[in-house]
Amino acid sequence: MCTPALDVDAVRARFPALRSPVAFLDGPGGTQVPDSVIDAIAAYLRDSNANLGGAFAASRRSDELVERAHAAAGSFLGCSPDEVAFGQNMTTLNFALSRTVARGFRAGDEILVTRLDHDGNVSPWLELAHDLDLKVGFVDIRDDTTLDLDDLERKLSERTRVVAFPLASNAVGTLTDAARIAELAHAAGALAWADAVHFAPHGPIDVAALGVDVLLCSPYKFFGPHLGLAYGRAELLASWRPYKARPAANEPLGRRFETGTLAHELLAGFVAAVEYVHEVGWEAIRAHERALGERFLAGLPERCTLYGLPTMEGRVPTFAFTVEGRSPREAAERLAERQIAVWDGDYYAVEVMARLGLEPDGAVRAGFVHYNTPEEVDRLLDALEEL
Ligand SMILES: Cc1ncc(COP(=O)(O)O)c(C=O)c1O
Repeated sequence: MCTPALDVDAVRARFPALRSPVAFLDGPGGTQVPDSVIDAIAAYLRDSNANLGGAFAASRRSDELVERAHAAAGSFLGCSPDEVAFGQNMTTLNFALSRTVARGFRAGDEILVTRLDHDGNVSPWLELAHDLDLKVGFVDIRDDTTLDLDDLERKLSERTRVVAFPLASNAVGTLTDAARIAELAHAAGALAWADAVHFAPHGPIDVAALGVDVLLCSPYKFFGPHLGLAYGRAELLASWRPYKARPAANEPLGRRFETGTLAHELLAGFVAAVEYVHEVGWEAIRAHERALGERFLAGLPERCTLYGLPTMEGRVPTFAFTVEGRSPREAAERLAERQIAVWDGDYYAVEVMARLGLEPDGAVRAGFVHYNTPEEVDRLLDALEEL
């Protein structure tokens, strides 16, 4: 079957920020947004700005919007609208939900995290362990940055309550076998707790197929506004005692974990972002991204050292590398002078950076998403050659 080609010019025409001369290769830190997202945010503030539950029209429209946002989240993650909760960002949601699940934990219980994780999926568990006298174990990675599932199996025990892991590394782009991790976690009686933040702009998420119990992501990484989004399996959410104000709604289920008034205008932007992704289509996105990644890998100058998988198998097009003779910061500054936006440092992926011997300076990170072009890849490669 033939993969639909992505019309990258048509895509780019929808993003006002992409009219600038900058090559935005900073997607892993946050993506640009299409006009429809910006317009939806502005339209809500112009026409429907109100709190929920009132008898008047703007409040009713706000109620409807919150429902539409949950429906959009359900369609994005492959779950019921009742199984999702919005929050400020992934990290804040993860601190809140980890505290909520831990209401049922006892001293000595164990949590496993991985060395591929962003700290947003590590520190909530470390802090919890500090408060409740739990143990946190780190599942190692192999030298090629793939997750060591043998090490996971070795470290699982009857005391393991949660296995927290990423779908993709925000530092080196490596994918994990989420379905297998969930299977191993469940066999040990633990929950599978997935961080989908880095994966979300690169491919479809189906929580049922993955078999995870909790999954978190951040719409600002997939062409939407600065928000966090969590999925929790219905039976699990129903079993938790939520931290909530007494009068706040208990139903639908996910809503009891949304504390206070949500950023309604951003929910409007979120709905538009999900519509945007569905319009473009994952197949076209994936094929385009793969071609960009292959182009980058084929042309990376010899004076650059890549950390992570050297082909597009088993990864998304997020690349961490160092440049001989330049610190990552210097390289990023030189690229910025040439209107190329990349990240440097550890991007909060402190474990993988330490494991790869890249602390304290980290590495340069170039991340491609579907709105990037082959010309931008070439500009980066030429600039790296010249640095
Ligand atoms: C893999 C991953 N997890 C978690 C986070 C934290 O997300 P947020 O900024 O929404 O808290 C990030 C942000 O870069 C990330 O890349």
